[in-house]
Amino acid sequence: MDGDVSPGDRGAPEETEIEQLRQEIRYHNARYYELDEPEISDAEYDGLVRRLLALEAEHPELITEDSPTQRPGGAVTFSPVAHVVPMLSLDNAFDIEDLAAWGKRLERLMPEPVAFVGEPKLDGLAISLVYEKGHLVRAATRGDGVTGEDVTANVLTIRSVPRRLKLASPPGVVEIRGEVFMPLSAFADLNRRQGEAGKRLFANPRNAAAGSLRQLDPRITADRNLALYCYATGALEPDPGIATHWDLLQWLGGAGVPVNDHIERFDSLAGVHDFAAAMLGSRHDLGYEIDGAVIKVDDLTQRRRMGSTSKAPRWAIAFKFPPEEKTTVLERIFVSIGRTGRATPFASLTPVFVGGSTVARATLHNEDEVARKDVREGDTIVVRKAGDVIPEVVAPVESLRQAGAEPWRFPKDCPVCGHELVRLEGEADRYCVNLECPAQRVQRLFHFASRGAMDIEGMGEKICTQLSERGLVADVADLYSLRLETLTGLERLAEKSATNLYEAIEASKKRPLAKLLVGLGIRHVGPTAAIALAGELAHMDRIEEASVDDLVDVEGIGPIIAESIVQFFDDARNRTVIDKLRAAGLNLEGPPRPPAVESEDALPLSGLTFVLTGGLSGRTREEAGAALVALGAKIASSVSKKTSYVVAGANAGSKLAKAESLGVPILDEAALERILETGAVEPE
Ligand code: IVH
Repeated sequence: MDGDVSPGDRGAPEETEIEQLRQEIRYHNARYYELDEPEISDAEYDGLVRRLLALEAEHPELITEDSPTQRPGGAVTFSPVAHVVPMLSLDNAFDIEDLAAWGKRLERLMPEPVAFVGEPKLDGLAISLVYEKGHLVRAATRGDGVTGEDVTANVLTIRSVPRRLKLASPPGVVEIRGEVFMPLSAFADLNRRQGEAGKRLFANPRNAAAGSLRQLDPRITADRNLALYCYATGALEPDPGIATHWDLLQWLGGAGVPVNDHIERFDSLAGVHDFAAAMLGSRHDLGYEIDGAVIKVDDLTQRRRMGSTSKAPRWAIAFKFPPEEKTTVLERIFVSIGRTGRATPFASLTPVFVGGSTVARATLHNEDEVARKDVREGDTIVVRKAGDVIPEVVAPVESLRQAGAEPWRFPKDCPVCGHELVRLEGEADRYCVNLECPAQRVQRLFHFASRGAMDIEGMGEKICTQLSERGLVADVADLYSLRLETLTGLERLAEKSATNLYEAIEASKKRPLAKLLVGLGIRHVGPTAAIALAGELAHMDRIEEASVDDLVDVEGIGPIIAESIVQFFDDARNRTVIDKLRAAGLNLEGPPRPPAVESEDALPLSGLTFVLTGGLSGRTREEAGAALVALGAKIASSVSKKTSYVVAGANAGSKLAKAESLGVPILDEAALERILETGAVEPE
């Protein structure tokens, strides 16, 4: 992982760096929000955003409306809707002990008896439906809890959403909240159709529901068979005098709003355990995905007295199910070779539907992992989704092991080039160290052309393979001596596409230096480090010549990255590539160096490092970060002992927990606002 690029300690940069960062962030937003396939770590992403925020804080005149800092949360194409009552999240309980601890906290808050309602926790996305005088006037996504997106046209296509409430005298305004989800049958049908049309399959019903709701064309949403269950109200005026959640749900049901049937009321927490266990047992029989049970205090007056934290109500808790596990057969173990030569074993499985999608392969990480798990070809194994996303082999079912099944041995040689696979001391991975290995060449080329690097449109993996296999391109610099006729001669590349590709390669010569640095695939140099290097050292020549000492002087470059850069340029083959790139006329210059900055010690928050986590209601995290930076503070993406303060908004999770465990002072949103107003941190 790359180190932080610290904002606030550089002077005025040129617009190019800002624009480059914006493009970068937009690209990663799309990968994260639209494709659900992030390419960089959260910390790297935060680094980019922080750098942009810092530059924008220094140059407010360069802030544009379409900057990602102005519209955080990805590719927003819908109008923003401010929720009248913020849409909070839920605290989680992962086992019976957590649930009991929650019960104890409630007892302290509310000594009198408390009744509960248990509901399935639907795995979809929260929606807010505003009805005025009984008519649906707006539907919005949750967004960050404070501001959502207007998806009315799309929600209107969901059959079970009533346009009018079936109430004789409907309230002036009622905001009904619920979960939009995709039933499993609709999901299977959608993916079948996507597959037939040669389109991308959705990873799971939740992604499919989210993707279907955020369509610009409501006809597409209409075609996706989404469903909805409602479970709460936000604003409700005038108050119809409903006393309990149970009665509220009955009222909603009577108004024609879909309410789930698997809802039960309990006089004490004792019954709730059985309810959660029963939900877990029946999770696969519902026809839609649930990821837990939600337990809520029934009495609305008691709820008001218990109140909420900035993140979640105290009166409710989500009892989360453990990740779903399935058994299947591990057919073969293969090894794939990445661009750095790393050999990664992976399991090819008999396809199985688990955690909301069909899984046919799972990574086995490295040699030790395979040995530790002792999975063998032909084994029946348990598979689950790690973090509910990445398929993971949990363990073999040893009782079902076939007689004669041998422990798996890591191949000695690269499956692609036959060169020996080397495991260096202290490393968990084996590497194909043959830089000429065709698999590596293809992957290096593919990486070079990828959007995060030189962004050469039309250069997919298949083209890279052809170029490499035909001996047309041995290293990335050879791309620039390809002739149009050569490209036209490639298989499955029409003349027009060949011309486009030729032009895209030409255009990539002008990419910013940071992109080129990323494209070279230097170990540990991701976009954050690349931007720091290009910004600080300003030219490829200086980076190439820099010593470890020079490099660690660059803010955000630690010794590991520095060593790796020096090693890279020590290799004569890499220097030859750079020479060829230079000769081909690629841009090797960084953004113009900013003038020296005056001392920042004068700023009120100089020397303090803040970590922002969770959602804020008054401003976005990025805005808060920019405001703190403007006061001289640094923003870090992860909590450490060096963190001065953690600002915890709604939904704060692991960073808050880490701050608590390290004893780092925690500020709530109100305290943050006071700091921004006064420029001073109050004494604790
Ligand atoms: S109540 C203030 N009830 O879970 C709490 N939420 O992890 C309002 N969810 O954002 C939510 N099923 O999208 C509630 N029966 C249920 C739910 C439910 C699913 C979702 C909802 C919420 C998220 C929190």
